[in-house]
Amino acid sequence: MKKVMVFGSLNMDLTIECDTIPQAGETLEGRGFFTNPGGKGGNQAVAAAKLGAHTYMIARVGKDLFGRQMRESLEGYGVDCTYVSESQHKSTGVAIITRCQGDNRILLSPGANHEIKGQDVDAILKKLGEPGDVFMTQYECSAAAVAESLVSAKRYGLFTLFNPAPAKVISPETYRAVDLLVVNQTECEFLTGIYPEEKESCQRALSRFSAMGAGNAIITLGSRGSISRVGEEIVEISSYSVPNVDTTAAGDAYIGALASALVKGEKMEDCMRYATKAAALTITKQGAQISIPYQNEIDIYFKEESL
Ligand code: RIB
Repeated sequence: MKKVMVFGSLNMDLTIECDTIPQAGETLEGRGFFTNPGGKGGNQAVAAAKLGAHTYMIARVGKDLFGRQMRESLEGYGVDCTYVSESQHKSTGVAIITRCQGDNRILLSPGANHEIKGQDVDAILKKLGEPGDVFMTQYECSAAAVAESLVSAKRYGLFTLFNPAPAKVISPETYRAVDLLVVNQTECEFLTGIYPEEKESCQRALSRFSAMGAGNAIITLGSRGSISRVGEEIVEISSYSVPNVDTTAAGDAYIGALASALVKGEKMEDCMRYATKAAALTITKQGAQISIPYQNEIDIYFKEESL
């Protein structure tokens, strides 16, 4: 089977629940504090591995307790950490997350995540990558390294999946190196100027991504599901109604699950439906990597064996 390679961030998430977000100069009492391994890159790798894909992580942590815990977490979920290196100078990335009324707000300290260079990723892909493997990345590492890594991956014949989160500008050269772009509504608006809501605005945004050079795009619409274009057809996948405990990592679960289905050679529509199930179950639990489901949890919840 083809493999999944993720170049991305590893953050220790420090998370606390509150009823209202504190204003400038205000202190509020929250509850339910916990720390747990996260980072968009790490979460997406864990989702792919938990769902059966042979998954490698390309990342950097600090020489500190969080770094050790991050590696242990990934390895515990079956992610190959051969290419997770340790920084001599920077600490492990940290995300401060406030959970408020079913949504979250995140403040990042990237630390070691920003140290990896495009050439570091290129060397790993050259050694490890085989045509048809899935390479995915996000925007929580250095933007230059992310852009270069996509160009390298494309050159080595890998299928490139890009989740430009948090949203930053994408150059024309980078767009042309992307086989599949996965964006949420805010990222879509930032990149195209179109806020995707109903089918018509989604179609316009999808066309805009094609015009900018991306091979294809999926727009995730939160509780309304996701949408893409397959050939001439618009594919709309509805979301599932589940108890909303914590939305952290739901988007990452979607993307990791999508990658795990893509390496199994599933059709795009089936990949999207499967990803939607993984994201739905992630919302029913607290935390990031810990909340992402295994295959058997998806089977039991949705009472079926297939995608
Ligand atoms: O997408 C969720 C992730 O974003 C969190 O785990 C946090 O680390 C931030 O990177």
